[in-house]
Amino acid sequence: MLELLRERSFPAREIVPFASERSVGRELEGGLVVRGLDGESIAGFDLALFSAGGSTSGEWAPRFADAGAVVVDNSSRWRMQDDVPLVVSEVNPDALDSHRGIVANPNCSTMQLVVALKPLHDAAGIERLVVSTYQAVSGTGKAAVDELLDQAHALLHERPIVPPRSYAHQIAFNALPHAGSFAPGDDHTDEERKLIDETRKILGDPAIRVSATCVRVPVLNGHSEAVNVQTREPLSPERARELLAAAPGVTVLDDPAAALYPLAIDASGQDDVFVGRIRRDPGHERALDLWIAADNLRKGAALNAVQLAELLHERGLIGSRETRSAA
Ligand SMILES: NC(=O)c1ccc[n+]([C@@H]2O[C@H](COP(=O)([O-])OP(=O)(O)OC[C@H]3O[C@@H](n4cnc5c(N)ncnc54)[C@H](OP(=O)(O)O)[C@@H]3O)[C@@H](O)[C@H]2O)c1
Repeated sequence: MLELLRERSFPAREIVPFASERSVGRELEGGLVVRGLDGESIAGFDLALFSAGGSTSGEWAPRFADAGAVVVDNSSRWRMQDDVPLVVSEVNPDALDSHRGIVANPNCSTMQLVVALKPLHDAAGIERLVVSTYQAVSGTGKAAVDELLDQAHALLHERPIVPPRSYAHQIAFNALPHAGSFAPGDDHTDEERKLIDETRKILGDPAIRVSATCVRVPVLNGHSEAVNVQTREPLSPERARELLAAAPGVTVLDDPAAALYPLAIDASGQDDVFVGRIRRDPGHERALDLWIAADNLRKGAALNAVQLAELLHERGLIGSRETRSAA
């Protein structure tokens, strides 16, 4: 987020990094010094970008909002709350207008999915989606990235791996149908539930039926998705390609004969969502198949959070606390 704020010349007078007590006083690149959270230190901000987990957001986002800031929260804590807009900058920016102090940044797999689906939904109305994700380990955090590299290194040197910590099983040279976690009694992971619920909320259409399987794969960064899209109106692959090519934040890479299609390793480090393998589903006359890849840490998280901050600023939606009540 800090890198993107700098890269995009976000017009902030001052940026203050907060973290846990462990990090207070630490100097970050660019000379910013980390502060701890307390009642006094959070006063006087216009915007607060949160990425500290659900429980920290649960406690501190309302406190920042009460102190006058608009919070853009990366965790899942507020996403499905009715009075909290869940916003993707290219898809539903107008939802920001109704914020009451907290705005939620969607889940990474959902983010890239809806950027690609929005133009198709506007043109032909999406009736049903079948989504299989191929999610990179960076989405789990740095410890998982280190674990994949350590396991791969050990296995290539024919040494035993240390027992997995980030996942239930070895991730190197494997595919785990278990991205996220299973709540007691639920046969879907929380990641699959997020994909289903958040897609409907962002596209503003609770009637869309979504089937989701979220898979963790040994990719360092960049989520990929195989998506079957069934529309209410007919939509040809050619028309879908045109719509996607004209959509903001989307790049179409679709020449399979030349081995041109989106790849996680190419999407990593890029801002756009990449779409290819756009083709008719031979099993249904109103369904298309797509392959989508994007950088889960950029568009899937930090970039969208910063884009929301930019939109809030451009639309004059910060600094008007008197007229709003905190969420
Ligand atoms: N698409 C998305 O929106 C997306 C994608 C990935 C992750 N996430 C979400 O983002 C959140 C963070 O993930 P991450 O991978 O960035 O985690 P992370 O690398 O562990 O970073 C968490 C940060 O929160 C700080 N923190 C933890 N507890 C705190 C507390 N009590 N008070 C103040 N600061 C505290 C940590 O401080 P220290 O540096 O002092 O430890 C650290 O800087 C999670 O909720 C995750 O689900 C969202």
